Amino acid sequence: MNEQIVILDFGSQYTQVIARRIRECNVYSTIVRYDTPARELAAMKPSGLILSGGPASVYAKKAPLPDPGIFALNLPVLGICYGLQLLAHFLGGKVEPGRKREFGKGTMTVRDATCALFRKMPETLQVWNSHGDKLTSPPDGFVSVATTENSDYAAIEDHQRRFFGLQFHPEVAHTPRGKEILSNFVHGICNCGRNWNMRHYVEHAVEVIRAQVGSERVLLGLSGGVDSSVAAALIHKAIGDQLTCIFVNNGLLREREAETVQKVFGRNFQIKLQYENATKLFLGRLKKITDPERKRKIIGRTFIEVFQSATRRAGKARFLAQGTLYPDVIESVPIAGNPAAMIKSHHNVGGLPKKMKFELVEPLKCLFKDEVRQLGLELGLPKEIVYRQPFPGPGLAVRILGEVTPERCAILRNADAIVVEEMKSSGWYYRIWQSFAVLLPVRSVGVMGDERTYDYTIAVRAVESQDGMTADWVKLPYELLESVANRIINEVKGVNRCVFDITSKPPGTIEWE
Ligand code: XMP
Repeated sequence: MNEQIVILDFGSQYTQVIARRIRECNVYSTIVRYDTPARELAAMKPSGLILSGGPASVYAKKAPLPDPGIFALNLPVLGICYGLQLLAHFLGGKVEPGRKREFGKGTMTVRDATCALFRKMPETLQVWNSHGDKLTSPPDGFVSVATTENSDYAAIEDHQRRFFGLQFHPEVAHTPRGKEILSNFVHGICNCGRNWNMRHYVEHAVEVIRAQVGSERVLLGLSGGVDSSVAAALIHKAIGDQLTCIFVNNGLLREREAETVQKVFGRNFQIKLQYENATKLFLGRLKKITDPERKRKIIGRTFIEVFQSATRRAGKARFLAQGTLYPDVIESVPIAGNPAAMIKSHHNVGGLPKKMKFELVEPLKCLFKDEVRQLGLELGLPKEIVYRQPFPGPGLAVRILGEVTPERCAILRNADAIVVEEMKSSGWYYRIWQSFAVLLPVRSVGVMGDERTYDYTIAVRAVESQDGMTADWVKLPYELLESVANRIINEVKGVNRCVFDITSKPPGTIEWE
């Protein structure tokens, strides 16, 4: 890799977001520890350095500080938030503890339009602040190039040395044109070309996986969802038959799901696939269980049991691969303190017990969902897998209200298949977050032909959402709803009524259990 930006991480929750923005600029970036020695950084031959934000104050006793040698490498440097305060701290400026934390939206006004960071940008910009300490006097050689309502030094520049500091966060979505500032830094100031793309990412990730794994074996729990599928394809590309995927059929999957996974991964990709059919075990344990949380717990526990015994059968392996994404890592922090997250226990489903003695391979850990999708396409995975809607770990069990029985599973599976088919053929499936059928435990009267029926009701749910935390019901065309309902009632035995769920989240949830 010849061109790269090195990001020194001082502990900001946004460091990975900076890396992502740099990738969006088609430039490669590496995140390193904040105290990486200057000579090691020099050996990486970066085109520029970015000092991330961080929660500390530069004056705190244990403040993370960089090797001062980084300022003598003759490289462009961009300090963001805490990074700007470090510039001041090391180069002779003055930072004072802010009396009140500046947090939230602000308006930045460009003072010096010749500053390369603001090339082709308007004079005022909306920016996002989150800092306590405040720069009150810039170091020698620096001038203020932008201000905000609360600060004369929203952005500073030392033109000679190509050092820049931003008090706000250009990487977050709340600074809508922040990406252009970062692009100006990497392209205009560091002179990087646009040479980095997903193909390079694959090559790079393959090398990293090979270096980590060597000649050892890796096991991976394949669910058929986007993340584990992309992880499987990527790791397989890196180490071929050293990877064994374990696919557990819990009897709660959708129509043809198990077959699709076997076809795509086993046959097309020639990945070693260990298929565990545990349908009977799961459904046996769910007999007579109606409480949603108990269902989830039983399914979670049984999954771990089945998976553990499957790993023993798979033979000796040192590594376990997981399709953990970057948002899984950051969200796990705020979610813990968020009472809403406790309403359902699903955030801990799927976690494997620590006593399973594997080292982890997590090749998607620094990527965001849309990047994982791009990566999947690059690896040749079909669109049906790359763009599939989320499906809950406990599967159809939380969409069958009341007791889960094989008959009810079959009814719901058939109804759901119709929803998916109709959503796909009308083009709606890939536009929205989720669409599915729910089987209600109530029966109602109907007439079919000359006969009176007394059958189940199917509820159809279709929601739009960014992240599953909030959602709105989708205003599907009446014609589409009509053909979904007609088909379900005509084709699915045991159902004589179909309703459409028009509840948003909150106050409703997406799943019915
Ligand atoms: P709710 O129903 O809480 O769903 O509004 C939000 C998102 O999470 C999914 N979901 C689950 N995922 N295990 C999972 O892996 C679960 O137990 C579970 N429950 C809900 C749901 O499909 C939606 O995308």
